[in-house]
Amino acid sequence: MDKTIVKIKSTNESSYPIIYGEGLINNAFDFIKQYTKANKFLVVTNETVMPLYGSKLKKDNVEFLILPDGEVYKTMQTLNKIIDKALEVKLERKDAIIALGGGVIGDMSGFASAVYQRGIDFIQIPTTLLAQVDSSVGGKVAVNHPSGKNMIGAFYQPKLVLTDTSTLNTLDERQFKTGMSEVVKYAFIEKTCNANQIYNFMDFLKKNKELIILKDHQILAKLIKICCELKSAVVNQDEKDKGLRAILNFGHTYAHAIEKITDYKKYTHGEAVSIGMKMIFDFALKINSISKEYYKEAIDLINDYGLITRLDFMPDENAFYNAMLSDKKIENSQIKLIIPKSRQEVKIEAVFDKKLLLEGIL
Ligand SMILES: NC(=O)c1ccc[n+]([C@@H]2O[C@H](COP(=O)([O-])OP(=O)(O)OC[C@H]3O[C@@H](n4cnc5c(N)ncnc54)[C@H](O)[C@@H]3O)[C@@H](O)[C@H]2O)c1
Repeated sequence: MDKTIVKIKSTNESSYPIIYGEGLINNAFDFIKQYTKANKFLVVTNETVMPLYGSKLKKDNVEFLILPDGEVYKTMQTLNKIIDKALEVKLERKDAIIALGGGVIGDMSGFASAVYQRGIDFIQIPTTLLAQVDSSVGGKVAVNHPSGKNMIGAFYQPKLVLTDTSTLNTLDERQFKTGMSEVVKYAFIEKTCNANQIYNFMDFLKKNKELIILKDHQILAKLIKICCELKSAVVNQDEKDKGLRAILNFGHTYAHAIEKITDYKKYTHGEAVSIGMKMIFDFALKINSISKEYYKEAIDLINDYGLITRLDFMPDENAFYNAMLSDKKIENSQIKLIIPKSRQEVKIEAVFDKKLLLEGIL
């Protein structure tokens, strides 16, 4: 069994490991019991993931809450259901909630863990590529509000992230690509992450394309590890999202606007991100921030993984701009863009020119 431990040092919590490998879920509690003193566990999952992996976690002291599947259920109402279930099964303060699923389940369960009895232990078992490389790491937990995504939430770090690459076998191609979009994003921001090690992640993704697409587990474990280490390096430097952490939102200013104007229904988050990354590369080329050679190399990489790069409709420019302005990251009505600067390097810049911002969207 292949496993690696990454430590994330947050300001007020002890470090926690992310353990990855193939088949770990079969012995999940061997790992979990090392990181919590909980006597009882509440597994929060959904109707898609439960039949696939729920049985792996069945034990006498484990209760289950099976939620409906979908981003539309990432709400305060569902959060209340988690709290109700925790109360019903008499979860005590030393007990733990386990999130078994993708980013939606992870974000909601983490938020429930943060507020239930002022905080109980939280364990993540992410089962989508996006959750394994991104949402399970870094401690952002939230639910949506009708006015916007992730508007109600907290920073709450788990005790353990247990990442089993074999759960990716059942993920459909669209969801796998959604995760790959965030993976490719790390390649474009690698140098600015300021991690201890240089991964040359663009080269890694180019060299190992076939194996990654075939879901070779050794290569996937390496890929997930690199992404987690890059993300944890950034989170270590800026846990509460006051500066550097913004780079993790590379491509996301456009992506969030795409999701908003399409009512979060037409595109998955990752699809919006790949379109958003193409838009920001177009923008960077227009303002001469990057060379034509790097632009071509970057777009080729996005295309190599079959990620979508264009909207298939003509958006209303004002609606798009207003959606960009309603992003959580806006400060004093300034749109802060993460702009490619050189190969695998980005800069954070406030951009005021509406016309320039919108030129890239069509
Ligand atoms: N907290 C963070 O830092 C952070 C970062 C990025 C994204 N997010 C959030 O993550 C969410 C998106 O996460 P996601 O892309 O994982 O979506 P998701 O949780 O909706 O999962 C996608 C689909 O895959 C299914 N699924 C999950 N695991 C499966 C498996 N192993 N096999 C087959 N099907 C499986 C789910 O039931 C769902 O239908 C969004 O709500 C986003 O806001 C949070």
